[in-house]
Amino acid sequence: MVEHYFTAEPASADERGTLTVELAGREVTVHTAPGVFSAGRLDLGTRVLLRSVPTPPATGDLLDLGCGWGPIALTLALESPAATVWAVDVNRRALDLLRRTAADLGLTNLRVVEPDEVPDDVTFAAIWSNPPIRVGKDALHAMLTRWLGRLEPDGQAWLVVQRTLGSDSLADWLRGQGLATTKAASAKGFRVLRVGPHD
Ligand SMILES: C[S@@+](CC[C@H](N)C(=O)[O-])C[C@H]1O[C@@H](n2cnc3c(N)ncnc32)[C@H](O)[C@@H]1O
Repeated sequence: MVEHYFTAEPASADERGTLTVELAGREVTVHTAPGVFSAGRLDLGTRVLLRSVPTPPATGDLLDLGCGWGPIALTLALESPAATVWAVDVNRRALDLLRRTAADLGLTNLRVVEPDEVPDDVTFAAIWSNPPIRVGKDALHAMLTRWLGRLEPDGQAWLVVQRTLGSDSLADWLRGQGLATTKAASAKGFRVLRVGPHD
């Protein structure tokens, strides 16, 4: 059976390792393991996203939707130490890895949780995500509807999607939901979409 990176409890051997990557302008060593998205390196799409985004809001609640081992959440937490960063994933191994990395780095502003553990009254000043396109269109749309609906009125979401995996049709779908969506950047086969709560 093929194991997907979005499995809740990956069956592959939990052989933990570390990876040293540059995030928020500094070298950080992170925990990784098989069964987690892009365990061996910083994903190219994530790299394109992190190069394209503006400085995140300094305060408030910020969301990394589908955090994996955490490159996006760690960047948010390092760049905005006074903000509360929510790192959300369904893959428990990924959450465990990111909790360890956050502890190593002394990041006390990072909440690493499953989707249902985010309190209902939390709204987001920014959402950054390399979303799980491979879960299928219906699941992806349900996930985006759930979280983009919690953007604050002047908040923005930044999503990176591979062009061949449907970035343009996703942008059209987002516009169809009444969300102001623009192509903010395009590089190496990826598009970065900027999404605001209103058209
Ligand atoms: C493309 S990966 C990106 C991982 C990480 N942010 C990175 O840039 O390396 C997408 C992540 O979304 C997670 N995911 C899948 N379904 C999800 C859901 N319903 N809610 C939250 N995260 C989900 C997957 O487990 C996976 O870790």
